[in-house]
Order: sequence, then structure tokens, then C-alpha cells
Amino acid sequence: MILKSKFKTYLFHLLDILPRKRGDQLYHFIQNLYFEQNLDQKINTSFNSYQTIKQICVRCDIEIKAKVIAEIGSGWLPIMPYFFKYLGKARRIKSFDLNRHYQNNNINRLNSIFSQKYDRLINVEDDSLYSLPEGIEYFPFTNITDHDISDTDIVFSRFVLEHVKPETIKEMHASFKKELNPGSYIIHLISPSDHRAYVDKQLSLQDFLRFSEEKWNKIQTRFDYHNRLRLPQFLDIFEDLGYEIVDLTYDKPKEGSENYKKFKKLKLHEDFLGYTDEELMAGSINIVLKV
Ligand SMILES: C[S@@+](CC[C@H](N)C(=O)[O-])C[C@H]1O[C@@H](n2cnc3c(N)ncnc32)[C@H](O)[C@@H]1O
Repeated sequence: MILKSKFKTYLFHLLDILPRKRGDQLYHFIQNLYFEQNLDQKINTSFNSYQTIKQICVRCDIEIKAKVIAEIGSGWLPIMPYFFKYLGKARRIKSFDLNRHYQNNNINRLNSIFSQKYDRLINVEDDSLYSLPEGIEYFPFTNITDHDISDTDIVFSRFVLEHVKPETIKEMHASFKKELNPGSYIIHLISPSDHRAYVDKQLSLQDFLRFSEEKWNKIQTRFDYHNRLRLPQFLDIFEDLGYEIVDLTYDKPKEGSENYKKFKKLKLHEDFLGYTDEELMAGSINIVLKV
């Protein structure tokens, strides 16, 4: 597993030195190979995220039924939009991504597995470029802030904000504040942990907090960019823009647990010394903002 993590880092650096277009194509090709083997697992983990969102909606009295939802960061497949449409009965889901990862063959496989697994009939629109059903729209190569989303009731993201530059997160939320109607909601599921630790189990989930920004920028590439923002930094961004934080949950490793012990062994970089252990270790952050 350490080898796998090292190989991944090496591979991303290799892709990073190729001409941008070539690097992107190869990255896409490799990710796609990995993806084909893991579709069922992806659906299951997305279902867990949907369950989390349902619980949040109950707590905050947010209705998904008949609502218009905008997703930031579509990724490889419209799994979350399918849950919003087929389980939540949302009216329309618009999904935006800076890249274009959706592919017809993958979505056809999703359609087949999803319809069996959740006993839903998926009617693909005849003229859909990506084999998508009515009510789900895909906007590749699109920054959500360049699109009119004034008809949106809920903006949603899953595992995206940790990969966005802090300045961009601020600009994005300043633009939402102007465009969305008062009373609309923004729901973010954020994974602030060091993603290398998912592959290399010997690493702490906070391992990357050992590095200065300069060193970390040498380790990561544009393919695995992680901003390393800690919980209070996310909260500051939203509060400074005048958002009301109506719901916040996050994981805290128990004292004495393996994750806790690994964290305590780290020699943190001075940039992170001003935070409490809980603020540094806060994982799986789910946050709801009210406009
Ligand atoms: C780690 S993937 C997560 C994808 C998906 N949400 C999921 O749960 O599997 C992050 C995605 O966000 C996209 N992304 C990053 N910044 C973005 C932005 N400012 N606007 C739209 N998409 C963005 C990336 O292109 C990438 O496809």
C-alpha cells in the first residue's frame, strides 16, 4: 500500500510535466480504468452521502422534493444527481465541472445498475449527449460562477471544496450570496484529510500538516491538489461573507484510537500550531449555509 501511494504520487508528477492536454488525457484514461472496476462501490459510498444529506435536511427542515439543485464538481458520474432525482424527487439537477469526465459508456452502465439496485425506471432522453434522464443537466468545462443559477434552491458539493483554492472558495461564495434567493441553502460535504492516507494506511490522516506550504506544493500536483484548510478556516471564510451556518457536523478521532495516536506522533508545521487538536483532526465536515 505504501508502494501504491508512492507510485500514485510519482505518476501524478510524471503527468504534470507532460504538455497540459496530453497530461489531462492520460490522467483521464488511467482514472477511467480504475473507475470501471469500482462502480458498485462508488454507488454505495454515494448512497451513504445521500443518507447523510437526508438527515441534514430533516434537522434543518430543508425539502428536496420539487427543488432545483446545482452541484459543484460533477466528477465521473451523476450518482448524487440520481439520488436527488429518483429518491429525493428533486425537479431538476444541474451539475457543473471545470473538466469533462462524464462518458456515455460509464453512464449507460450506471443507468443499468442503478435502475436494478433501486428499482427505478431510467428514461434516457433521446437527444441526451451523455445518456442522462430528463431533469439532469451536465455542464462540463464550466465554472458554476459563470452560469446563471438564480433559479436554484440548493447548491451542493461532495468532496470538492478541499480541492479548490481558498481564494476561489471565497469568490464562489461571494457570487452565490449575490445570485441566490434569500432562504436558499448551500450544503457542502468536505473531506479535509490527507487523501494519501486512504491508500497508505501507515500515514496519519493529518500527515500533510507536517509540511510548509512550499514543501506541500512540491509534493502535490494539479491532479491531487488539496488546500489543507482546517475547519476554523472554512468557517471563517463563510462567516466573513455573512453566511449563517445552520448545521455543522464532523468526525473527531477518539482519544487513544489508532488515528489519534498517529496524529499525536506528528511534528506539525508551525503554520498549524495555533489550532486545537480537534480543529486539526476534524474530518468528514458537513456544513449547511443559509443565504
Ligand atoms: C474529487 S472530485 C469529486 C467529484 C464528485 N463530487 C464526487 O463526489 O465523486 C472533484 C471534482 O470537482 C471539480 N471541480 C473542482 N473545482 C471546481 C469548480 N470550481 N467548479 C466546478 N467543478 C470543480 C473537479 O474537476 C473534479 O471533477
